Amino acid sequence: MPRAVVVGAGMTDFGPHDQPLEELFADAAFLAIDDAGVSLDEIDAFYFGNAMGGQAEDDTHLAPKLATHIGLQGIPCQRFEDACATSSNAFKHAVQAVEGGVHDVTLVGGAERCTPETGLGTGEMTKIFASAAHRQYEQPAGLTFPGVFALLTKRHMHEHGTTEAQLADVAVKNHYHGQFNPHAHFGRDTTTEAVLESPLVADPFHLMDCCPFSDGASAVLVVSDDLAENFDGEPVNVTGVGHRTDAVPLADKVSLSATQSARDAAREAYDQAGISSEDVDFAEVHDCFTGAEVLAIEAVGLFEDGTGARAAADGRTYVDGELPVNPSGGLKAKGHPIGATGTAQIVELTEQLRGTTGRRQVEDATTGIAHNLGGDAGTTVVTVMEERE
Ligand code: COA
Repeated sequence: MPRAVVVGAGMTDFGPHDQPLEELFADAAFLAIDDAGVSLDEIDAFYFGNAMGGQAEDDTHLAPKLATHIGLQGIPCQRFEDACATSSNAFKHAVQAVEGGVHDVTLVGGAERCTPETGLGTGEMTKIFASAAHRQYEQPAGLTFPGVFALLTKRHMHEHGTTEAQLADVAVKNHYHGQFNPHAHFGRDTTTEAVLESPLVADPFHLMDCCPFSDGASAVLVVSDDLAENFDGEPVNVTGVGHRTDAVPLADKVSLSATQSARDAAREAYDQAGISSEDVDFAEVHDCFTGAEVLAIEAVGLFEDGTGARAAADGRTYVDGELPVNPSGGLKAKGHPIGATGTAQIVELTEQLRGTTGRRQVEDATTGIAHNLGGDAGTTVVTVMEERE
C-alpha cells in the first residue's frame, strides 16, 4: 500500500484577521502549494475543515466555495466538522484516499474565524463553541468548554494531587515556546505568578490557563509515496493516523481523567507506524487548557498516569528538555482557530522534521506526533510523522 507523504505546508499568523474566510484560507493554501511546488491542475482532491462557519458566519457549503476561490473548482471537495478535531479528521481522510490509491495529490487544511473580527464577542463565541457539548444534558445546564475541561482536570487533581501551580507551569512553558513562533497569537513570555493571578475563568483555570479565540488557516499537500520526489518541498512521511471516539456526554464516560479516545487513537497510530510511545521525539498536543495538556501527554503514553503535571515544572517538556511538548507554543500561545488547529499541528510536525523551525527546533527529531481532540475528547485523532530516510 503506498504511504502518504506531506510535501507542502503553510499557515497564516494566528490572531485577529479582518479578511473573509476564503481569503484567509487562500493565504495558507498558496503557502502550502508554493512550498510543494505543485501546480493547481495536479491537485485532484480538496479536504477542508471548518467547525463553526454555519453558526458564526452564516457560511456553509464551504469546500466548493473555497476551492472556487483558489482555482480548484471541478475536483472532489469535502468539508469536515468534528469540533476542535475538524481538520485532523480531514487530514486522516486525505491520507486514506492517497494510501488507497483514490487520489494522488490532495490539498487538506482548515480555517476558522473566532475573534471579535467576526462581529461576535467572547460570550457569543463561547455559546457557539458550547454547541459541541451534549444537547439534552449539558447545554441546558450552561456547561461551556472552560467548564468541561475544568471538570476533567479537577478529577485529575483529585486522583493524582495535581496542583494549580503545576498547571500554570504548562502555560509558562507554552508561552516560552510561543515567543519563538512568528505565527503565534501570543508571542510573549509569562510567569507562574502571572498565570495564578490572572482572573479565574472556571476553577481551576485562570485566564492564562486558557487558549484564546483566534482567527487563522493552515494547509498541507498530501501525496502518494511514489510521487514524493516530483515536488520541490522536502517530503515527510505520514506513518500512522489513529482516530477514535468516546462517549458523550461526560456522565457516560468510563473515566473523566483518562480521555479514553486519545489512548485508543494513540495505540492505533503507533501500531500503524510500528512504533511505541518510547520512539516519539516530540509532540504537538491539544492544550486548549493547561489541564488538557497534562491529560494528553499521559493518554498518548509519553508520561505515566499521574506524572504529567510535573513534566513542565521539571523542564522535561521544554524544547531543550528530554521530551518536548508543543514546541509551536500549542493552542495556549500559538492560538486556536478551531478548524485550522489540526492541520496547523501537521504544519509544525512537517517543519520540525525538516529541521526548519529555528529557535524552537527540537534537536535530532526524527519522529513526532500530533494529538488533536474534539469536544470533551468525544473524538481524538493522533498522527505519527517520521523523517524520510
Ligand atoms: N491567553 C492569554 N492572554 C489572553 C487570552 C488567553 N487565552 N485571552 C485573552 N487574553 C488577553 C487579551 O490579549 C487581553 O490582553 P490586553 O488587555 O493586554 O489586550 C486580555 O487578556 C483580555 O482579553 P479579552 O479578550 O477581554 O478576554 P476575555 O475575558 O473576553 O476572554 C477567555 C478570555 C480566557 C475567557 C477566552 O479567551 C476563552 O474563553 N478562551 C477559551 C476558548 C475556548 O473555550 N476554546 C475551545 C477550547 S476546547
